[in-house]
Amino acid sequence: MGDMSKMEVKTSLLDNMIGVGDMVLLEPLTEKSFIENLRKRFNHNEIYTYIGSVVISINPYRSLPIYTPDKVEEYRNRNFYELSPHIYALADEAYRSLRDQDKDQCILITGESGAGKTEASKLVMSYVAAVCGKGAEVNQVKEQLLQSNPVLEAFGNAKTVRNDNSSRFGKYMDIEFDFKGDPLGGVISNYLLEKSRVVKQPRGERNFHIFYQLLSGASEDMLKKLKLERDFSKYNYLSLDSATVTGVDDASCFRTVKNAMQIVGFMDDETQSVLELVGAVLKLGNIEFKPESRVNEVDESRVKDKNELKEICELLGIDQSVLERAFSFRTVEAKQEKVSTTLNVAQAYYARDALAKNLYSRLFTWLVNRINESIKAQTKKRKKVMGVLDIYGFEIFEENSFEQFIINYCNEKLQQIFIELTLKEEQEEYIREGIEWTHIEYFNNSVICDLIENNTNGIMAMLDEECLRPGTVTDSTFLEKLNQICADHQHFESRMSKSSKFLNDHSLPHNCFRIQHYAGKVLYHVDGFVDKNNDLLYRDLSQAMWKANHSLIKSLFPDGNPAKINLKRPPTAGSQFKASVATLMKNLQTKNPNYIRCIKPNDQKASHIFTDSLVCHQVRYLGLMENVRVRRAGYAFRQPYEACLERYKMLCKQTWPHWRGQARDGVEVLLKDLQIPAEEYSYGRSKIFIRNPRTLFSLEEQRKRRLHGLATLIQKIFRGWKARTHFLLMKSSQVTVAAWYRRYAQQKKYKKTKSSAVIVQSFIRGWKARKILRELKYQKRCKEAVTTIGAYWHGTQARRELRCLKEEARNRRAVTVIWASWQGTKARRELKRLKEEARCKHAVDVIWAYWLGLKVRREYRKFFRAHAGKRIYEFTIQRIIQKYFLELKNKMPSMSPCDKTWPARPYLFLDSTHKELRRIFHLWTCKKYRGQFTDQKKAIYKEKLEASEIFKDKKALYPSSVGQPFQGDYLEINKNPRYQKLNSLVEEKIIFADIVNKINRANGKGAQRIFLLTKNKFMLADQKSGHQVKSIVPLAELTSVSMSAQSDGFFALRVKEGTTAAAKGDFLLNSERIIEIITKLHRAGLDLTKEKIQIEITDEFLVQFKQDKVCVKFIQSNPKNGTMASCKRKNNRLLEVTVPSP
Ligand SMILES: Nc1ncnc2c1ncn2[C@@H]1O[C@H](COP(=O)(O)OP(=O)(O)O)[C@@H](O)[C@H]1O
Ligand SMILES: [Mg+2]
Repeated sequence: MGDMSKMEVKTSLLDNMIGVGDMVLLEPLTEKSFIENLRKRFNHNEIYTYIGSVVISINPYRSLPIYTPDKVEEYRNRNFYELSPHIYALADEAYRSLRDQDKDQCILITGESGAGKTEASKLVMSYVAAVCGKGAEVNQVKEQLLQSNPVLEAFGNAKTVRNDNSSRFGKYMDIEFDFKGDPLGGVISNYLLEKSRVVKQPRGERNFHIFYQLLSGASEDMLKKLKLERDFSKYNYLSLDSATVTGVDDASCFRTVKNAMQIVGFMDDETQSVLELVGAVLKLGNIEFKPESRVNEVDESRVKDKNELKEICELLGIDQSVLERAFSFRTVEAKQEKVSTTLNVAQAYYARDALAKNLYSRLFTWLVNRINESIKAQTKKRKKVMGVLDIYGFEIFEENSFEQFIINYCNEKLQQIFIELTLKEEQEEYIREGIEWTHIEYFNNSVICDLIENNTNGIMAMLDEECLRPGTVTDSTFLEKLNQICADHQHFESRMSKSSKFLNDHSLPHNCFRIQHYAGKVLYHVDGFVDKNNDLLYRDLSQAMWKANHSLIKSLFPDGNPAKINLKRPPTAGSQFKASVATLMKNLQTKNPNYIRCIKPNDQKASHIFTDSLVCHQVRYLGLMENVRVRRAGYAFRQPYEACLERYKMLCKQTWPHWRGQARDGVEVLLKDLQIPAEEYSYGRSKIFIRNPRTLFSLEEQRKRRLHGLATLIQKIFRGWKARTHFLLMKSSQVTVAAWYRRYAQQKKYKKTKSSAVIVQSFIRGWKARKILRELKYQKRCKEAVTTIGAYWHGTQARRELRCLKEEARNRRAVTVIWASWQGTKARRELKRLKEEARCKHAVDVIWAYWLGLKVRREYRKFFRAHAGKRIYEFTIQRIIQKYFLELKNKMPSMSPCDKTWPARPYLFLDSTHKELRRIFHLWTCKKYRGQFTDQKKAIYKEKLEASEIFKDKKALYPSSVGQPFQGDYLEINKNPRYQKLNSLVEEKIIFADIVNKINRANGKGAQRIFLLTKNKFMLADQKSGHQVKSIVPLAELTSVSMSAQSDGFFALRVKEGTTAAAKGDFLLNSERIIEIITKLHRAGLDLTKEKIQIEITDEFLVQFKQDKVCVKFIQSNPKNGTMASCKRKNNRLLEVTVPSP
């Protein structure tokens, strides 16, 4: 049962419907049925009805239990059509589309005064506050946003005949959210407060709530401070016939307001200042004037009772005389001239009221700004915005003046935006979904807007023109002007207009004009239009206020600052309002609109009364029927494919219980299966459009029936499933229990067997181990006994031996010691003798030397003086020479023997020495240089020297070889494993080994050979195999070597005729290292035979090849033909070698 009730919560707009929840589904659609549907729903407490996505709200005038937190939860995150119509559904839709689709939203609430707009706006705000993010900071923002309402309502709302809590100002609030949908803050814009109410209220209405709230709710103490009395009747500005409103406790409201101000962030002294101003306004109304006749018969006004004036001045910190003067004189400034005129009594009253109105309206604007400061978002991040517009509703009073004109103009503009956006959106949806759409006629109120706001001949432009015109301007001149200009307009009516249509219309007084608004005809009295539009405050008064010693009031009148006198007129009230409405409209157009259209069910503010005619009138002018028609013109109902399939899928076998394909295909199959005629629906891109509500109802009917069947089916299946599950559970439990028991029994048996086996096993193992241990212990003991005995025996033996050896050594040492000490004694004796001898000889020498010295000194003493000059000379010379040597030492040239430099000679007399020193130094450096040479280096240089002797200036190749060291064994025969075999064939040391080219005599081409030279022979071996020896020639058999004088490497080795080597003939070879080869050959030959091998350097020579002699000729060629010398056979007798010329 519990499950069932839960399921019921998810009702649809279409479930348990009273009348029709969405007017689009109304059938038949007539005005009568429309009203009937509204009434039926209203009587069942269903105050909300949809037209598509527009919510119609009828004021119930009593509290309904449909705004509880439970309801909020119910509507949260649900689809618009899922539940019965509610303002929460609209708020949820707007909030989610703001949060999830990043679309700025605005909620436009329209309807006439008392229709419930303000309540609706509060409901939207409280819903959004309830569903958006939580957290301390967010909650504070929310609280501040919500609490701004009571403050603004206290100061800006009043009881009117239409509404006990009528907003007397327009309000547009932007709530700002971050990307998560948490509120960040808000901005409130206010539109023209109806300030005339401050000084005068129509019959049956009240002044702004705050006055009554202050007087009823303030403590005695505070009243005393504000110099106020609790009695309403003491104040001229408070109308008495309706001072209390039934069901409203002003005193408790005052506490609410004060509390709200605190939450919003007003400081205590700010609140106090505000209340002081409110008190001052009340008291201003009590100032009265009396005429005082003056000599020139002009009535001058005087303040009757100065006590009230004094109190005001005390309250606001104003100099009493200044204010008093401001009420009696008026200063007009024109072209630097100040003219002061006196005020008569009527003008004084006018000035007083103007001051009161201005003071109050400026205070109100200040309040809005102050609240904005508190609630403004603290971040500069990008914000999403939801605007809630709650503007004063359309008003028709008995007497309508400028304020009603302005209010109704504003409503006219809102109606315009509704028409434009609703129709546009509808049209756009059809186009978006690819559905055909035909235009629907509706009344467009743009003509009325034009009548009022047109810049050239609109009523507002006329009024402004009249206000600015020089000369006498009165309300009647303004009306005359209207009569001239607007007479032809079809929505303008006036008795005096040119068209005589209204000449006899007695419902149209002479001082009035009438406008046919979209919501009905309104008769406006022109009295006060000019004044209210001008909104003049005498400068003396604003200056008096600016002089106040009260910071709030001073800040409200910056225009009173004499330093900032502005002679330009301020913009008129009308043009200001027009401009701000235009900005508002532009702002609204950028946002996604959501409409709430409020309807007033009766004029008595009574619950349960539904006056058909009144509702009918509103339905008409709000254009609701057109709205429905437009909605139905194409299709009465639309739903995304997914939602439609979900709701009706049980009606078709293919789609129940699951449709696997696209939702659209599913819906197609479904509708075909249900045999709904094709003209009844149309497929959009994402939605199904159903033309006739009846079709939808039949679908609903079928669904309801099907649901019963399905319930039975579900029950059946569920019961079967339950029984089966229960059985399966029992079965599987049984199996589990059995398995567990078997396992347990087996486990027990196994454990017992196992423990017995372990015991037996351990006994046997113990016994075996003990036996082995005994055996091992016995063996160990035997081994230890043997070792001990052996050790004792060896010890005895060793000690005996040692004793013998020690004895022997002792005897040998004694002999040595005795011998040594004998030798020592002998030596010492000898030494003593020798020393004695030497001493005697030395003494003789010393004595002789002394004697000689003495003799010489005695002999030479007489010569000493004679030789002094020579000595000095010698000394000088010596000094010079010393200096010369020291200097020379510092100027020494380098140690290179090639360095021929030598310092200049300083003294002529040292010439020969200088030359000699130079020669010695050269020889010495040469010696040093030679000293560096090792034998190895010497050999290398010797070889190089030899090469120079052989080749220098003879062979062109020679100079390039000088820098290259002669390495000898280039192939590293004894190291390289490739030549291991070849190395073993040669016994002697290898002097030279390299690859050379052996020239083939047949064609002059070269073949690579290894050329080896040892100290007595040279060999040629095959390069490819690396070891096959082709020829061996002893050096003794080599007679001569031939080569060219050019830079090529060709050379011929001639062999002695008649030897074994000669059998093959001479060798013609080619090698880059020719210089080294020949030098080494020459040297080896010389070492071996002491005979020089003959070396022939010529550009043409003969070579013996076996039998024939061939001439080898060297010619120079162009270097372009190549850098290598090449050999070519020219004929039988000629080999030609071309050598590139250098
Ligand atoms: N949804 C509602 N539930 C209960 N009472 C309402 C509701 N809407 C309006 N009222 C009543 O109607 C009065 C006027 O509504 P209000 O919103 O101030 O009208 P408006 O702003 O359109 O002039 C409210 O003071 C309240 O008593
Ligand atoms: Mg309101």
